[in-house]
Amino acid sequence: MDEHLAANRANWDDRAAAHAARDGLGYRVERYVADRDRISDVVAFDRERLGDIRGVRAVHLQCHIGTDTLSLGRLGARVTGLDFSSVAVAEARALVAESGDAGSVDFVVSDVDGATTVLGTGGFDLVYTGIGALCWLPSIERWAGVVAALLKPGGRLFLREGHPILWTMDETLDDDLHLRHPYFEQETPLSWDDASSYVATGRPLTATKTYEWNHGLGEIVTALLDRGLVLTMLVEHDSVPWEALPGQMTERPDGEFALAERAGVAPLSFTLQAEKPLR
Ligand SMILES: C[S@@+](CC[C@H](N)C(=O)[O-])C[C@H]1O[C@@H](n2cnc3c(N)ncnc32)[C@H](O)[C@@H]1O
Repeated sequence: MDEHLAANRANWDDRAAAHAARDGLGYRVERYVADRDRISDVVAFDRERLGDIRGVRAVHLQCHIGTDTLSLGRLGARVTGLDFSSVAVAEARALVAESGDAGSVDFVVSDVDGATTVLGTGGFDLVYTGIGALCWLPSIERWAGVVAALLKPGGRLFLREGHPILWTMDETLDDDLHLRHPYFEQETPLSWDDASSYVATGRPLTATKTYEWNHGLGEIVTALLDRGLVLTMLVEHDSVPWEALPGQMTERPDGEFALAERAGVAPLSFTLQAEKPLR
């Protein structure tokens, strides 16, 4: 594993423990134990676009501590969550054991690039991923190759992700929108050093260095088309499920954050679906 991925993994190990702590902060995972019908806000947002997934064999790439993964399980899918953070996967396994979801949900530790080594090829009706996932991957072309390889013929990718326009914005400003970071994928990552996370945590992080890559919307679509997938949905949204631009957003009742002023001036996230043709 190269130095960027190693630093990112240390940061995610650190974050996973903080996000899963039963301290009323982080992802507040105790809600999924207390209410066995609870679906995460992220999965609920796309429920209509997701459709009926009962009986579907799904993989959730970059599943983190498993809250969206178990939500897909609660909608009837048989889901395998994959994440390169062994701490995140341990937390996810503990959560589904406690919440009663272990029958339909399991987890593997792997880098996205190694997904077919642990999960094989052509085994999944659904690849689900997103919300702060693609920005951790250096190559959108490699990612698209993994997605295409995991899918059965006739299977589909479901991606809800922060919009690449959002990732260009300077999140340190609390009174203006300013394009600061590259829109297109660059070989050299953006580097950060930050002891905080995107949700409140009970303690500061200690593994603070991270590296991220943006991928333009055209680059994402083209990478999927180049792998033979057929685009079936691309919807841009004016909201995201976390406070991406602190000080400039208001939270909606569904857990989505939109710009407080000038809502709709820019797309903040998108939902994309693509199918692997039957032949
Ligand atoms: C923001 S979370 C996204 C998951 C989901 N949206 C959520 O919030 O629960 C990003 C996840 O990607 C994982 N990750 C980052 N780079 C990865 C890689 N190269 N391979 C596998 N997982 C990776 C991290 O460990 C983290 O759990």
